Amino acid sequence: MATPQEPTIASPKLDLSKKSRGTRNKRLRRLETAVRSFRVLRGLTPEQVDSFMNSYIIYDLDWADEKMMIETLGPDYQKKVGQCLADYYSVLNHLCAIGELEKMYIPPAMDLDEGLTMNQILYEEQIAKEIQLPPNAKVLDLGCGRGRVAAHISKVTGAQVTGLNIDADQIASAKAFNKEKKLSNEFIRADFNDLPLPLPDNHFDGFYQIQAFSLAKDHTKLCQELFRVLKPGAKLSLLDWASLDAYDPEDPYHQKLMKRIKPLIGAVGTPTPESLAKSLEAAGFRVLESNNASIDGVQWPLIIKADDYFRTARRALLGLVRVGLLPTHFKTLFDRLTKDCDSFIEADKARLITTSYHWLAEKPFTDSAASSEKAMKMDSSASSDTAVNRSEAESPASEEPPAVQEQKL
Ligand SMILES: C[S@@+](CC[C@H](N)C(=O)[O-])C[C@H]1O[C@@H](n2cnc3c(N)ncnc32)[C@H](O)[C@@H]1O
Repeated sequence: MATPQEPTIASPKLDLSKKSRGTRNKRLRRLETAVRSFRVLRGLTPEQVDSFMNSYIIYDLDWADEKMMIETLGPDYQKKVGQCLADYYSVLNHLCAIGELEKMYIPPAMDLDEGLTMNQILYEEQIAKEIQLPPNAKVLDLGCGRGRVAAHISKVTGAQVTGLNIDADQIASAKAFNKEKKLSNEFIRADFNDLPLPLPDNHFDGFYQIQAFSLAKDHTKLCQELFRVLKPGAKLSLLDWASLDAYDPEDPYHQKLMKRIKPLIGAVGTPTPESLAKSLEAAGFRVLESNNASIDGVQWPLIIKADDYFRTARRALLGLVRVGLLPTHFKTLFDRLTKDCDSFIEADKARLITTSYHWLAEKPFTDSAASSEKAMKMDSSASSDTAVNRSEAESPASEEPPAVQEQKL
């Protein structure tokens, strides 16, 4: 079980108090974002709605069953999956941004008195601590969404984050947000199944990814790429969907649940805690932690909150569709989005699956890397500032993200 409140190197600067996080600015910004996304959704063409609905075909497939992939999508299935992912996420990110889920992930259940957004913030604070960045760090975020997690991480740690995403729409949103917040993060449109990644060797001091790896075709190859682009000593923090020990792939009822859950959470692959750890190790990383980051290993209290939110939004929007104020495709989109959440909750309660599995790994030092690292440390020994201290000095006086402001006390 993850213990996010345990002190680590960054803890002296992190104020986890909840009271002052709910600022007016935060609510205003959310409202603006929601209105923007609402307009985008209202303006979707019938072709875009069809592409979104058709993209769900990939969630009936699995990377592990190549034969079925080829039968369904043809020999260039990887490219087709990429296109479907882009079609899916270019709409989904706006469906999520209408409300609380501007970051498109269900976080680990870390504080059951709080909602999704605060649990996301708590989880991101855990990432910021556990990847233990040096000053002036460069960090990589694969499947970076709309760059909001990157903004939070860079404000907490002072690091520069490079985010990579297959969807041009989210990259544009990430860049605009980055500019608005006067941050120096970078965003690249690229498919992480198209290797090698367009990134230099030995470049990043840390890595995180949040619920994007199940969309990677070959975890070992992707981990090998990460090994190439990370510096020795760099830590990797991963949060993802995984099927757990209690899941029996031969059990017809489990199969039925799985068939419903994959489209709901948007998963193509079905990793296990062990399979992903093996991929990390095969690429040369040392796995430091492998655990479910949710309290007591269950996430359903938060899944219920997400489901309530989408059902409420659906009811309100359907009212507007009925009186002709919104196009009928809002019904199509929200019907699809809210389908089968009961199966997800049931499977989570039975501990068959989770979307809050967490791995922490490290790229080990080789002997030569260790001695040059030692020399570098001696060079910089005059400055004992942590990355978090640097962040405090250099971060612009922006009001977002609100959680970060408090961490700078
Ligand atoms: C479930 S969301 C994860 C949430 C995301 N980390 C965030 O902060 O909002 C998966 C993300 O991975 C991106 N993605 C999916 N497949 C990808 C691929 N093959 N290459 C790059 N990005 C991909 C999606 O566009 C989406 O932003």
